[in-house]
Amino acid sequence: MIRREMGKTEENVSALGFGCMRLPTLDDKSIDVDEAKKMLRFAVDNGVDYVDTAWGYHNGQSEPFVGLALQDGYREKVKLATKLPSWLIKSREDMDYYLNEQLKRLRTDAIDFYLIHSLNRRYWKNLKEHDIFDFMDSALSSGRIRHIGFSFHDILDVFKDIIDSYDWEFCQIQYNFLDTENQAGSEGLGYASDRGIGIAVMEPLRGGKLANNVRKDILHIWQSAEIQRSPAAWALRWVWNDPRVGVVLSGMSTMDQVRENIETAREATPDSLTHSELATVEKVKEEYKKRIKVNCTGCSYCMPCSSGVAIPTCFDFFNDAFMFDNVEDQKKAYLRLVKEENRASRCIECGQCEELCPQSIEIIKNLKEVSALFE
Ligand SMILES: NC(=O)c1ccc[n+]([C@@H]2O[C@H](COP(=O)([O-])OP(=O)(O)OC[C@H]3O[C@@H](n4cnc5c(N)ncnc54)[C@H](OP(=O)(O)O)[C@@H]3O)[C@@H](O)[C@H]2O)c1
Repeated sequence: MIRREMGKTEENVSALGFGCMRLPTLDDKSIDVDEAKKMLRFAVDNGVDYVDTAWGYHNGQSEPFVGLALQDGYREKVKLATKLPSWLIKSREDMDYYLNEQLKRLRTDAIDFYLIHSLNRRYWKNLKEHDIFDFMDSALSSGRIRHIGFSFHDILDVFKDIIDSYDWEFCQIQYNFLDTENQAGSEGLGYASDRGIGIAVMEPLRGGKLANNVRKDILHIWQSAEIQRSPAAWALRWVWNDPRVGVVLSGMSTMDQVRENIETAREATPDSLTHSELATVEKVKEEYKKRIKVNCTGCSYCMPCSSGVAIPTCFDFFNDAFMFDNVEDQKKAYLRLVKEENRASRCIECGQCEELCPQSIEIIKNLKEVSALFE
């Protein structure tokens, strides 16, 4: 397994990391412990030595599962990453409470890579008000965590602000060939990397959308390339091609995916894709982008909406429905994940958002289309 550097942490970790957010499940949605344990141990036996979990994954079952699966000597073979659930923090004491519980769940004395989970403008403000800096310093000095970082879901300005506000050792960002200008994006990646901050990449396959049920026209482009790879392998190789990237996390849900991604990782050296291969990826990206209906960058200048509509989120689901040709899946996800009071149909056409939108998007008209399609 090729190894990659994680910036200031001075750790070298496997190019492929095991994300424990999409483990195989049984009919009742609980983790299929036997199968998931086999997959995780197979990955470790084949060189994967970075395991990423979090308090909330699989409704709180992921950390106890990882604690169990890493018994019998496996804990010593890996770097373990987990995360402080930012949204649950209401006091400084809560931070210690969650970390101490996580050490118990994970059956370990120390977390190698500890992240403040899913930072955005709102969570970060709240955490600073509750003295997160003191928590991070004391967790490091007590030895309960070895390296400190954060994972991120917001816009570039917020990312830079967070990067500049603490001596972070690493960070975790959503990055794949479609998300180069989204969230932290390529610029954010460079900003962190220039400061010696190690980079863990999450959602390299956009949660599977770049790998499964791929549109026929996109498949045709992949198949016309000079070298044959699965869509998953193309997408992963594109991320690993970037020398600034450290570990790439994949949330694998079958043994076949584990095997394939380990195989793909074998050739995952930086700058190893040819000009022609990079041109193929660019062509696929352009085809996906042609289907984008609303040119929303997610900057959130339109927010908060006076009647509660989660405007950028509505447009995300809407765009994905067309880009990935899966209206039904996106509709289900929209109805499951966007609360009624935040849906597009709540728009009262006040027009405030349109005055604030730097892209001059016709937000009212587009929200009507979102509502017609999904609601
Ligand atoms: N900190 C955060 O805020 C945050 C957010 C998101 C993720 N994460 C972490 O980052 C990890 C990686 O993100 P992710 O799970 O979204 O990664 P991802 O690799 O983008 O998506 C994983 C999904 O891709 C599909 N897949 C993986 N390998 C495949 C292959 N070889 N062929 C076909 N399909 C394949 C599977 O989909 P199917 O199950 O549909 O087959 C799998 O569930 C997570 O597991 C989690 O640990 C953290």
